[in-house]
Amino acid sequence: MKYFVRTYGCQMNVADSNEMSRHLRAHGLVETLDQDDASVILVNTCTVRQHAEDRAFSEIGRLKKWKAKRPGRKVVVTGCAAERTKEYLEDRFPFIDLVVGAKSIENFEQMAQRLLDRRETDEELDYAVPAIDDKVAAFVTIMRGCNYSCTYCIVPSVRGREIYHSMDQILGEVRDRVREGSREITLLGQTVNSYRHEQYRFAGLLRAVAAEDGVDRVRFISPHPYYMNDRVIEAMAEVPEICEGLHLPVQSGSNTMLKAMARNYTREQYVMLIEKMRRAMPEMALSTDIIVGFPGETEEEFQQTLSLIEELHFDWGFIFKYSTREGTPAAQLESYPEQLIEERHQRCLELMDRIALDRRLRLVGTTQDVLVEADNFGRTCANYKVHINGREAQARQGAALRNIAPGEEVSVRITNAHRATLEGELQDGNVTFENFRQEDTAGAHSRER
Ligand code: 5AD
Ligand code: SF4
Repeated sequence: MKYFVRTYGCQMNVADSNEMSRHLRAHGLVETLDQDDASVILVNTCTVRQHAEDRAFSEIGRLKKWKAKRPGRKVVVTGCAAERTKEYLEDRFPFIDLVVGAKSIENFEQMAQRLLDRRETDEELDYAVPAIDDKVAAFVTIMRGCNYSCTYCIVPSVRGREIYHSMDQILGEVRDRVREGSREITLLGQTVNSYRHEQYRFAGLLRAVAAEDGVDRVRFISPHPYYMNDRVIEAMAEVPEICEGLHLPVQSGSNTMLKAMARNYTREQYVMLIEKMRRAMPEMALSTDIIVGFPGETEEEFQQTLSLIEELHFDWGFIFKYSTREGTPAAQLESYPEQLIEERHQRCLELMDRIALDRRLRLVGTTQDVLVEADNFGRTCANYKVHINGREAQARQGAALRNIAPGEEVSVRITNAHRATLEGELQDGNVTFENFRQEDTAGAHSRER
C-alpha cells in the first residue's frame, strides 16, 4: 500500500511528517510522490497564518474526488490546523478517515492503527522494500509546545505547553539518522534554546549532539532571543560542528510593537545580543522572521523595523503579513486593512532582498565548504544555499563524481550571488573545475592519482 504526504508550515511540521512517515514505513507502507498512485494521503496542516490554513483546506476539498476514484483510499489530516479545527474539519469534509491534531502526533502510530493494519488480501498490497530516509540533513525534534504567549501567535494553543525529550531519546534519534546517512542534524523546537531536561540545558545538548560520531554539522531552529545565553554562544563559537548560522526571529524593530507582541526583549537588547555574537563569530550568518502590520503599528514604528534591517544587515529574512488568529490576544485589537499590510510587506521585502544580496555579494570570490545534499545543490556551514555549476558537463566527462555525491563536503569557489542563493564552482585542491575542463580536453585522466 502506498502513501503520499503533503506538508504545510514550518520545519517542526516537516519533522512531524517525517516521523509519521517512519511509522507508516515500519508498518510496510511505501511512500510515493504521485498522488494517483497512493492509497493513503496524509495532509499535515499549518494554522500559523490564515493563508496556510486556507491552502490546506482547499487541498483537502480536492481529495474528495481523489478518494472516490478508487475504493479503499484513505484521507488523513494532521497537524496544527487539525488541532485547532477538528470538529469543523470533520463536519465540512466528512470523507476524512482520521484527524490527528498537533498535540497528538506522538500517538500517531496508535491512532493510525486501523490504517496501518495491512490485510494480506489487500489488492493494493505492494511488496516493495520500505525506503529509508536517506536525507543528508535531518531534523530531530527536541521539544514540543511553547511556554511563551506572544500575542499574535496561535502555536501555544495548538501545540500546548513545552515538553522536552530526554537526552537519551534525542541522542538515540541522532544515531538513527546518522545510520540512515545523515551528516547534518537540525535540532527543532518552538523556542528550541529553552530546552531543559534533568540536569541538561540547551548548550550541553548542542555539545553532546556535536560530539556524536558521524555528525558533521549541528543547527537549531528556532531559538528565542531571551534564552540566547553565553553558554550557547560559547558552544557555537568553540565547537566546529556547531554551525555559525543563526535564525533568530525578531518580529519588529519597534519597542512599542515588541511590547504589544509580548516578546520579552527590546530592540536594544536584540541588537546588543547580535553584536556580542558577531564579536564571538565574525562570519556568523544571521536570519530572522518579521511581522508587518501588527494592529496599531504606526508608519513610524514600521520604519523602525526597516531601520533595524539596515542596522543589522540580516543575511536573509522571512517577512510575514500579520494575520489575525482567532483566540489570540491580538485578535481583540482592530486590524489594518489588507492593502496597508500588503504595502508594508512589499517595502520590507524590497529592503530585505537588497540587504541580503549585498551580504551575499561579499562572498563572491571566497571558497566555502559545501555539504552536498543533491546533485548540484548544497549548503555552507552558515547555511547559505549554493548551486554548484558545471556538474552536467562534469558528469558527461565521467569525472570526479565521487567527490560530489550527496553527503560529501566539497570546496566551492563562489562565483555569483543571487537574492536567496549563491553560485559556485567545484574546487579540487587548487584546481577549479574550469581549469579541470581545460586539462581534460588535453586528454588528462591523471586526476585519479
Ligand atoms: N501573523 C503573521 N505572522 C505570524 N507568525 C506567527 N504568527 C503569526 C501571525 N499571526 C510568524 C512569526 C514566527 C513565524 C514562524 O511566523 O514571524 O516567527
Ligand atoms: Fe509550525 Fe506553527 Fe504552523 Fe504549527 S502553526 S505548523 S507550529 S508554524
